[in-house]
Amino acid sequence: MKSFQTLLTELNNGILIVTLNREDKLNALNKMVVGEIGEVMQEVYTNAEIKGVVITGKGSKAFAAGADIAEFKGLDEAQGKALAKRGHDTFNMIEMCPKPVIAAVNGFALGGGCELAMACHIRIASENAKFGQPEVNLGLIPGYGGTQRLVQLIGKGKALEMLMTAEMIDAHTAQKLGLVNDVVQTVELLDHCKGMVTKIASKAPFAIAQVIQSVYAHFKEGLDGFDTEITLFGKCVTTEDFVEGTAAFLEKRKASFKGY
Ligand code: COA
Repeated sequence: MKSFQTLLTELNNGILIVTLNREDKLNALNKMVVGEIGEVMQEVYTNAEIKGVVITGKGSKAFAAGADIAEFKGLDEAQGKALAKRGHDTFNMIEMCPKPVIAAVNGFALGGGCELAMACHIRIASENAKFGQPEVNLGLIPGYGGTQRLVQLIGKGKALEMLMTAEMIDAHTAQKLGLVNDVVQTVELLDHCKGMVTKIASKAPFAIAQVIQSVYAHFKEGLDGFDTEITLFGKCVTTEDFVEGTAAFLEKRKASFKGY
């Protein structure tokens, strides 16, 4: 894989670790970071060696402390919309990725950082993680999907509270609200996330991709999630992995999946 200016990537045993690499700026998401995340996601979609992704931040302090505020100066309306649109397009690629993408949240996940974590399929937080959408402090609202994904994850009342008060919440509160799946010790964070990707990657990959598509159909305007599920269930039974998975169960052996 090519090397990036703002990201570190490491592919081991099918797991791609993507580390936001602007530690001195608390891994703030500038245009280049967002662009490079898009490039990495293209690679994830097309590279068969990659079975799943873990996204994390460099250092012990931050996952990502938001969009890069230094780039906001002098934006006009069209530029503001274009900035948000680029973020939306990139984060949608994460959300709709047919392979598991897990956020290993190792510190501040604020603004765009919280939005990046929410675009991932699963969020695991370290004990020191902190979440917040502080955009109203800057005269802004979230621009990378935060007003929508936060409501989807924690419900309207708590989402509005976080969005309007700009207060941070700690990892355990985030877990109670359903914003994160698990809280683990900081030293265990990456191994825990890698373990999850490995477990998911051992299942039928085509079925995993259909699970993701079917769940997100719930949130997509113009799509009926129940109809989508019926269609995708139908597709699954046409795969060799369905034949293999059911045969392996009946023959009391471990299934060997091919991804089709
Ligand atoms: N954009 C650009 N730079 C950022 C940043 C952001 N979102 N968040 C942090 N940084 C930079 C700081 O400017 C500082 O850079 P400097 O050393 O060149 O001055 C560096 O990262 C360290 O941050 P600092 O504020 O000194 O750390 P802290 O421990 O005192 O505070 C935070 C940590 C997260 C509370 C604080 O950095 C913060 O509030 N960041 C902005 C959060 C935000 O509003 N995000 C939403 C953006 S839409």
